[in-house]
Amino acid sequence: MMTDKLLSPVRLGALELKNRVVMAPLTRCRAINPGTVPNELMVRYYTQRASAGLIISEGTLVSPQGRGYPFTPGIWSEEQIAGWRLVTEAVHAQGGKIVCQLWHCGRLSLPQYHDGQPPVSASAINPEIKMFNGAGLSDTVTPRALSVEDIQAVVADFGRAAKNAIDAGFDGVEVHSSNGYLFHQFFSACSNTRTDAYGGSFENRARIFFDVLDAIAKVMPLDRVGFRLNPMMNGMHGMTVDVDTVAMWEHVVRGANRYGLAYLHLTEVMDPKQIDGNPHALAQVSAHFRPIAHMPLISNGRFDQAKSEQFLDAGLCDAVAFGVPWIANPDLVERFARKAPLNAADPSTFYMGGEKGYVDYPALDPSLMA
Ligand SMILES: Cc1cc2nc3c(=O)[nH]c(=O)nc-3n(C[C@H](O)[C@H](O)[C@H](O)COP(=O)(O)O)c2cc1C
Repeated sequence: MMTDKLLSPVRLGALELKNRVVMAPLTRCRAINPGTVPNELMVRYYTQRASAGLIISEGTLVSPQGRGYPFTPGIWSEEQIAGWRLVTEAVHAQGGKIVCQLWHCGRLSLPQYHDGQPPVSASAINPEIKMFNGAGLSDTVTPRALSVEDIQAVVADFGRAAKNAIDAGFDGVEVHSSNGYLFHQFFSACSNTRTDAYGGSFENRARIFFDVLDAIAKVMPLDRVGFRLNPMMNGMHGMTVDVDTVAMWEHVVRGANRYGLAYLHLTEVMDPKQIDGNPHALAQVSAHFRPIAHMPLISNGRFDQAKSEQFLDAGLCDAVAFGVPWIANPDLVERFARKAPLNAADPSTFYMGGEKGYVDYPALDPSLMA
């Protein structure tokens, strides 16, 4: 029999969640105005979803250098802070909680976002993928390797962004340390061939991440900070799972145990093809990291209500993050409570479309959409 643990409250560090249905971070490219400032449309979208136990905001850029996509919001300017304040106040007014996902795309970017210059990364290694340019797809280029001074500037950007997130009214932050973006580019041997203090050993490859946690600790309590790992990105976003991938992530998680963080957000293997035939891959991500991580866990990746209850009952995680189901169901918690069917999502409007496919998915109770 299915239990209803998913709908029960839980505490993740200092974050008190009214239920365990987390909204996963979802880039929606709706910051369609100069300055990548959150707008009224985004306020409506997040307010509709305030029944989540916790909203993790879309990836939010810590600096112009971190850009990799069109119309993604930032959190380095006063205008952006003011825009985000409208979002957090509206979510709080509905009894919701929201943390800001802090993001730097590194080499997953295009020169068009950097005045024609290459983006930056751990090393000058082209991920050799195609990225969305606003109209179609473009080939990635060889990035510029960050100098040690540049790395210190990136660390400072994350510290400033965390401070700005607090000023904007967020309940905390999630460091986007995964999915092939900047930190992942440092962690992985396929994208980091540095020979200085930021390359080589596990300790060196993880250094920038822990420098960032130290910088964030100066501006906010770490029991309001989470981080994300998607360890089985294989053949996606230019990343591979190789002989030391699992050991590298274990090193990161063990190091993070010292910080008293709010949570670790883990993505399961989403498609068996992702790891087929790879002898270094993990089939069960939460089960592997649960005993290693001394902090609450959020699991993610193609979960439905039944699978969530199974994971929670088995003690594999403390909460579940849903991505696509939240896109199409502004009242996902209510639907789970009523065991009601879910709306299907329309992928053609994930990254474009204004109101369409963003704030117009129907709720069971139409007053939510007012
Ligand atoms: C449209 C879209 C945008 C996404 N944007 C982000 C993002 O900004 N940051 C991030 O960490 N993950 C992002 N993801 C990944 C999701 O957070 C989540 O891991 C993924 O959708 C799998 O969960 P699901 O099966 O419940 O959808 C995105 C996924 C989708 C579909």
